[in-house]
Amino acid sequence: MLEIIENPTSASDWCKNQRAQGHCIGFVPTMGTLHAGHQSLIERSIGENDVTCVSIFVNPLQFNDSNDFETYPRNLESDYKILEKLGCDMVFCGTNHDMFPESCGLDDIEILDPGPHASGLEGDYRPGHLEGVCTVVDRLFRFVGDCRAYFGQKDYQQLLVVQHLAKILGYPQIVPCETVRQSSGLAYSSRNRLLSGREETAATNIYRALTAAKSLWNTGVRDSQKLCATMKSILAESSMTVEYAVLRDPDNWQRPSQKDGLDRAIALIAVKIGEVRLIDNLRLDHGI
Ligand code: PAF
Repeated sequence: MLEIIENPTSASDWCKNQRAQGHCIGFVPTMGTLHAGHQSLIERSIGENDVTCVSIFVNPLQFNDSNDFETYPRNLESDYKILEKLGCDMVFCGTNHDMFPESCGLDDIEILDPGPHASGLEGDYRPGHLEGVCTVVDRLFRFVGDCRAYFGQKDYQQLLVVQHLAKILGYPQIVPCETVRQSSGLAYSSRNRLLSGREETAATNIYRALTAAKSLWNTGVRDSQKLCATMKSILAESSMTVEYAVLRDPDNWQRPSQKDGLDRAIALIAVKIGEVRLIDNLRLDHGI
């Protein structure tokens, strides 16, 4: 039976109570509008822990564009139904004031430094975004306490920021999870539902571009310019604005240098299709 808790302080008490009973907690932080990507995190958490809790909070601190915040899809009632069906134990939400009771308003909240992995890419294109993510995730971790926390790899830079935060806090254990894709290859995202049919078809070029880079990598190509040019030429086949199509060292977040022989790389893409911004990535040095 899903327990719906409408403020994070009571959710925190619920978590303490679970730990007192010796239960291991799995936690999936979300902004709601749950899709197959979230569902796979929740199912994994249910499989690996005694109890699972989910947070739903559309965090205003991580939107650098107020229009994006206002149009971000919200579907609380259908989210609850999905969670109930999955067998999730508890979901909590809350107002800005519930999350940050010490602050008089958004401008007053102390914003945390997201650390070294916030530089470049999302850090450049969405100023303040990773700071906002770090600030709210820190707060959510403090409410939930020690647990296993599940994050999708689609938001790879976010994952690095959260891993850094957990290292500083000393908890929780971060569990990175594979990106879940539609049969077209398009990664699940709450924003996909803002795409028209034609835009969604264009968006499938993102994964095509990533897999083309991976195929080249698999044939031994290590020239990062060539790998990036391949991605860009595929993205250019449909109408979208490419913010970046780059490679990074997945561990130290540096641009891979040819001198190091490029033995590790992750390809990352951000595009805007109409008003909708999508990101995705693929490890070139892992998997098939
Ligand atoms: O990935 C998300 O949905 C959000 O960035 C998160 C981690 C829930 C923080 O608001």
